[in-house]
Amino acid sequence: MDLKGRDLLTLCDYTKEEIEYLLDLSVRLKDMKRKGEVWQPFIGKNIALIFEKTSTRTRCSFEVAAHDLGMGTTYLDSSGSQIGKKESIEDTAKVLTTMFDGIEYRGFEQAKVEQIAEAAYVPVWNGLTNEFHPTQLLADMMTIKEKLGDLQGKKIVYFGDARYNMGNSWMVASAKMGMHFTACAPDDKYFPDEELTGKCSEWAKESGGSVNTSKDIDCAEGADVIYTDVWVSMGEPYEKWEERIRDMMPYQVNADLMKKAAPHAIFMHCLPSFHDLNTSIAKDLHERFGICDMEVSDEVFRSSQSVVFEEAENRMHTIKAVIAATLGADPGDRS
Ligand code: CP
Ligand code: NVA
Repeated sequence: MDLKGRDLLTLCDYTKEEIEYLLDLSVRLKDMKRKGEVWQPFIGKNIALIFEKTSTRTRCSFEVAAHDLGMGTTYLDSSGSQIGKKESIEDTAKVLTTMFDGIEYRGFEQAKVEQIAEAAYVPVWNGLTNEFHPTQLLADMMTIKEKLGDLQGKKIVYFGDARYNMGNSWMVASAKMGMHFTACAPDDKYFPDEELTGKCSEWAKESGGSVNTSKDIDCAEGADVIYTDVWVSMGEPYEKWEERIRDMMPYQVNADLMKKAAPHAIFMHCLPSFHDLNTSIAKDLHERFGICDMEVSDEVFRSSQSVVFEEAENRMHTIKAVIAATLGADPGDRS
């Protein structure tokens, strides 16, 4: 499998076999890390990390992965650089491509990361846009494989705002990998758009998966994976909370909902999550609306079915696999 020189802008651009290769490489890299095996194929190389939105997991994963591979990293955000205000994203990409061997971008429109990829001669990796979050999906699929085995035929039910980066990305990943995906939300406006749904339906025919929508929470019956995400995403106006809380509260992932899923079902969330009052936003929303948890109850978040922290760890191993593969290195089988 040769992915050298490829961008990772969305999983739409990757085949099932290429995704399987990245997941297999992630497993091998995780095993090597566990054993303390040092593998530094990229000494002397550097990557740029552009973050126009905040991050804990994605930034740390890119930095740790790059350092493990022997590379240097430079972090750029919109407050400490010229990006967006004094220099266009296109000019920025042209500058960075002269100095760096790869560029990660987290920001707003998907069109922007595509613009960077167009202007750059080095691999460009999408670290989250409004529309897609491909590196998160690699970590999610790796975690499902670890917990439940094969991806083929697994039933995934996604609760909440499914028309944003996580819902879209889950629909694409399911369609490519032969999983059965259902977006469950109270209104059509929260479902992925028709164009993407159409493409995914075609991919699902080939892979043996399916893509569905439902407004009925009973669609969780028999699910292998229950997934949710925050109801208001980064970049959306704070005023959206009132409407989302009203619309989404009946779709909260709580113990009653988990009982509908298969007995072996796991709970997943990309994080960060509003499951208690230990954040300033949650405290503010508690004062205004009297709620103590949102998209997931604290009970489910902390339950034995929840795999959210394993998922978070796998961000690093999968991002390392993406960097290694697109820059053209593979450690082979060292087990
Ligand atoms: N899941 C995720 O992308 O987390 P961060 O926003 O912390 O990077
Ligand atoms: N939908 C969330 C995902 C965070 C990882 C957001 O865009 O804020």
